[in-house]
Parts: sequence; C-alpha cells; structure tokens
Amino acid sequence: MEEITNFIQSIKSKNKHFLNLLYTSIIRHGFDNTGLTKSKIMFSNVLLHIQPVKIHKRSVKFKTTLGLGLITTYMFFVLAVTGIILMFHYSPSAAIGPDGFPDAYSRMLNLRSNIFWGDFMRNMHRWAAHGMVAFVALHMLRVYLTGAHRGGREFNWVIGCILGLLTVFLSYTGYLLPWDQLAFWGVKVGTEIARLAPGGDIIRGILLGDTDVSGEALLRFYVLHVAVLPTIMGSLIAWHFWRIRKDGGLAKPADTSEESQIPDKDFGEVKNTSVFKSARSYKLVELVKGNEPKVNEEVDQMMFAWPKLIIRELIVLAGVLAFLSLISVFFDAPLEPPADPANPTNPAKAPWYFLGLQELTSYDGFIGGIVIPGILAGGVMVLPYIEMFFETFTKTYRKNIPGVWFAKDRTLENALFIGMYIFMGVLIIIGVYFRGANWEIIYPWDPVTGGHH
Ligand code: HEM
Repeated sequence: MEEITNFIQSIKSKNKHFLNLLYTSIIRHGFDNTGLTKSKIMFSNVLLHIQPVKIHKRSVKFKTTLGLGLITTYMFFVLAVTGIILMFHYSPSAAIGPDGFPDAYSRMLNLRSNIFWGDFMRNMHRWAAHGMVAFVALHMLRVYLTGAHRGGREFNWVIGCILGLLTVFLSYTGYLLPWDQLAFWGVKVGTEIARLAPGGDIIRGILLGDTDVSGEALLRFYVLHVAVLPTIMGSLIAWHFWRIRKDGGLAKPADTSEESQIPDKDFGEVKNTSVFKSARSYKLVELVKGNEPKVNEEVDQMMFAWPKLIIRELIVLAGVLAFLSLISVFFDAPLEPPADPANPTNPAKAPWYFLGLQELTSYDGFIGGIVIPGILAGGVMVLPYIEMFFETFTKTYRKNIPGVWFAKDRTLENALFIGMYIFMGVLIIIGVYFRGANWEIIYPWDPVTGGHH
C-alpha cells in the first residue's frame, strides 16, 4: 500500500515538474507587477514585441489616434481570416455549371444556403471590406489634422497613401468575385473610367486579360485579390509599423513636460529616480542615427505598454468584432442575379468609394475621371513634401508641432483638407442616393423615382 502511495506521489511531483517545464517553455515570464516582468511580457511574445516596452503616455490616450489605425489593422485581420474560410468554398470560374449558373455565382448560392456559417462569413468579409475603406480614410484624416505626417513622418505618410490605394484596389478586385450583376456592372464602370487615362487601355487590358470584363478578368481579379495584393499589403503594413517605431513612436509635441505626470503605479519597479533624466542606456541603438533614441527626453512621461496599452487594444478588437458580427447577423451582403454581359443594369453604379469619381465623370470624362482625381491622389501623396518645400522658405517647418489636433498655425491647411473630404463625401452621397436610371437625379424619399435604384 505504501509503495502505491509513494508511486503516485512520485508521479505527482514529476508531473508537476513536467508541467512546470512545459508551462515555462511557452510562457517565459510571470505576471507580477514589476517593471522587469512588464518588459519581459512585451519582449518575449511574438505578437506584443512589435510594440515597444515603454511608450509615451499620450500614445494610450484615445484622443491621440481615436484608435483609427488600429481599427483598420483589425479589419485587415478579419478580412484575412474570413477570406481564407471563403476560399475553401469558392472557384473563380465563369463557366456555366450543371445548375445553369456560372460556377462562381453558384458558389455564392451555396455559401448562402448550404455551408455552415457561410452566409455569416461572407457578410463579415463584405462589411469588413467596406469598413476598412472607410476607416483608412478616417485614419488619414486624423493623421493630417494632428499634423502627424510631419516631423520625420513624411515618408510614412507616403507608405500610408500606398496602403490606402491598395485597400481600395483590394476591395474593388473582391467586388467582382460573386459574379452577379452588381459585381459585373460595378467593375465594368470602374474599368471604363480607367480607359479615359492616357495608356489606360493598356492597363485595362493587362488587368482584364481580355478586351472586356470576362472569365479571364474574374481569374485575374481573384489572383490579385487573394494572393498579390494581400501579400504586398501585409508587407507594407509591417513597414508602416516599423517606421512608426523608428520615428520615435506616435507624433507628439516636442515638450510635454508641462502635462501631468504618470502615476507611480504605471512605472513598476523601474521608475526613473535618477537626478539625470536620461538614465536609460541604449547600447547598440546609440549607433542608429535619426530620430531615435530619444535619450534625453521626458523619461517621466513614459509608461509600460503592458498592461494598459494591450488591454485597450483588446477592447478595441472586441468592439470591432462585436460590431462586425452584429451587422453581419442583421444585414446580408447583396447578391443580385448572375452576371449578364448583354443586359446592363440601369444605372450601373461603381462601388460607393468610386461613386465620387463616377459622379465627376458624368460631367466630363477626362477632367472628372482622370485630371481631378489624379491631382487629388498625387497631391495628397506628396502633401508633406509640398508643405516642407513651401515652409523651408518661411523657415517655420520644424517649428510646427506635430501630434496636436487643429494646430493654430495650420488652420488653412486643415480647412482645405477637410474641404476635400466634404467634397468627395458629397459626391459619393449624390452618387449613392440621388442617381437613378440613366444617371438622372432622383430623390430617395420620392416613391416614384427613388423606389427602384
Ligand atoms: C491599410 C492601411 C493602414 C493601416 C493598417 C494603418 C495602420 C496604422 C496604425 C495602427 C498606426 C498607429 C496609430 C493609430 O492607430 O492611428 C498608424 C499610424 C500612422 N499612419 Fe497609418 N495605416 C494605414 C494607412 C495609412 C494612410 C492611408 C496614411 C496616410 C496617408 C497613414 C499614415 C500614418 C502615419 C503618418 C502614422 C503615424 C501617426 C503618428 O505618428 O501619430 N496610414 N497607421
């Protein structure tokens, strides 16, 4: 009897030892409240180490970013996950199947009625795609209005602009995949706008792989949508984040020492008690030239990213997931009759983010479809450099404080930028709600004209 008890006891202790080893092989740190642990948590977790161990306390404040870049990032993740699930059930083929429908289209019907959670996944994917386009635009607006495209961050603005364009293009290539009337004619209108540009026909030909939107285009859009664009975007997002760190974190005024200090509990054990504020050592990092490291600045305004920042990020994630789930339960992604190249919808509308463009082209194809958007998109992309160029003459460039909402010395720039958003917003609203058959003005509240658009 004693032998059995001893045997069980020895297994128990060995088990404990084993479980201990197993646990520490995965989670290498404890969860106590010391600065060392807080640093270890951020360092030793592959997801967390993208972010710094210590951040400026302004970075966790909602007001600084409104969480918009983060929300855009989460939308991208949701799209990747739901997109992969959808890929298991999709085929980019316009060939007519036994049910009399093009294969891609009957896959949609299948998703809607036969696949467990298929409809929900499709809805999540669709609403996250629209959401990402909207949030990337809002993120850009916040960056501009806080002047965060300046003070060394100019090039990250350019990377951001490419990300913004790719977001739209990614959404647009996905728009064709259901191969229904909405998809077919929406994409067709978009490619007609491209045709107006010099060399546009060639680009259009490469994109479509045919003289018109056809099964070839479906295949090309699919490859762009599931492989080429997400890969480029994933890499650019990593680059975007890398630059934020190398630029010394989020934009902030040069001196925030006037702002209230962080409570002691956020420092853990390594609060800087030195009389010298620059008690941090950077070792190799000291070799790096540029804006980093901010050795002498505001040690007392820095706080541990764990747990406050991470908790807030998780709350935003939960909010994004809850919001997308909720609308996906109540609103179905549209699915019209299968694509019919011989039977145009009237009106044929591009996706909403292109409707501003479509509205402009209805006045003048070349000026509205190419010149104005070209100037706007190109101008926005190099905007920080335009500002830099003009301000080097007035010698005020670096003095402008980045990271402050509506800085007083930037009223004109901010007003122009907001004006551009209002201009595009109004055009989009007209395009979505006030254009009916033959692109004539309708009133959405008018049952005669507004009922059937
Ligand atoms: C796929 C698209 C994009 C993603 C996922 C993304 C993500 C982010 C994230 C997570 C941040 C950290 C701050 C925050 O949460 O707001 C950030 C900062 C920044 N983003 Fe983006 N972004 C995108 C597109 C853009 C665009 C279109 C622009 C501008 C044209 C832009 C310019 C910037 C700049 C300059 C910063 C630094 C801001 C600062 O220092 O306060 N990004 N981005």
